[in-house]
Amino acid sequence: MKLSQSLIYTLPFLHSAAAQGGGMVGLPWTVSNVPETGLEEITFPIDISASPHERGFYFAQQFNFVGAPDVGYTGLQPRADINGQPIIHAAFSSFNAGTTSDDENCSDGADGGAGVSCAIDIVSPYEHQYLLLVENTQGTTWVGTLVDAVSGNGTRVGSWTLPGGSKGIKGSQLGFVELYAWNDGKSEHVCADVPKHGVTFGEPVAEGYEGSLGVPYEYGDCVGEIQYEAHTTADGAVAITVGY
Ligand SMILES: *[C@@H]1O[C@H](CO)[C@@H](O)[C@H](O)[C@H]1NC(C)=O
Ligand SMILES: *[C@@H]1O[C@H](CO)[C@@H](O)[C@H](O)[C@H]1NC(C)=O
Repeated sequence: MKLSQSLIYTLPFLHSAAAQGGGMVGLPWTVSNVPETGLEEITFPIDISASPHERGFYFAQQFNFVGAPDVGYTGLQPRADINGQPIIHAAFSSFNAGTTSDDENCSDGADGGAGVSCAIDIVSPYEHQYLLLVENTQGTTWVGTLVDAVSGNGTRVGSWTLPGGSKGIKGSQLGFVELYAWNDGKSEHVCADVPKHGVTFGEPVAEGYEGSLGVPYEYGDCVGEIQYEAHTTADGAVAITVGY
């Protein structure tokens, strides 16, 4: 994801979604009655079984912290198979200046700006739903974990520590579908070339609270040109398809 300063000023409603390049679909989420100090734990279910095993797309949920100006996000990216085995890439990032980490899978900077990014690539089936767990472990330190919802096992993606004074996770933000390969500042992107991808975002889960998803919407350079389709499933999840 990449935030363009000029677009931020002209399109304030897109503040936290990808606002240029490959950003294609936004999806609001809400957890109701979150206390003023925020949530200490939240889980975002994501299913990318309807996407090809190739690099290019990012399916993510963003979140804000009480007392910190910028978002964090966590999500999944398809990867090409390695030796015939499916690879799932999971990311867990903070855009807040002053975020620190000494985790082996984390590095300074997020999308070329301030913050910390953590990522793993694991061998794991696309057919399974995944749970992206974000939890506070102590003080202002947060851990991101990728859990296979079918087999139940998980792998830690990484952890980072926000600047002092920040608190828990706020009760609403946006998810997004982004063709991040297009965030290269070049202009020869052809909407008709977007390969077909599908993702299903589940309702966010926070113990003791009720999570839900809002109405997804198209945005960016290919609105109306990429066979966008979205519908809500019986269990409140939102299934989104784009591309050819
Ligand atoms: C679950 O365990 C399998 C088998 O060890 C492993 O291949 C897979 O990467 C694990 N999945 C997660 C999400 O940690
Ligand atoms: C780093 O990633 C690997 C998987 O690629 C994982 O097994 C390991 O637990 C991660 N390390 C940390 C400190 O999160």
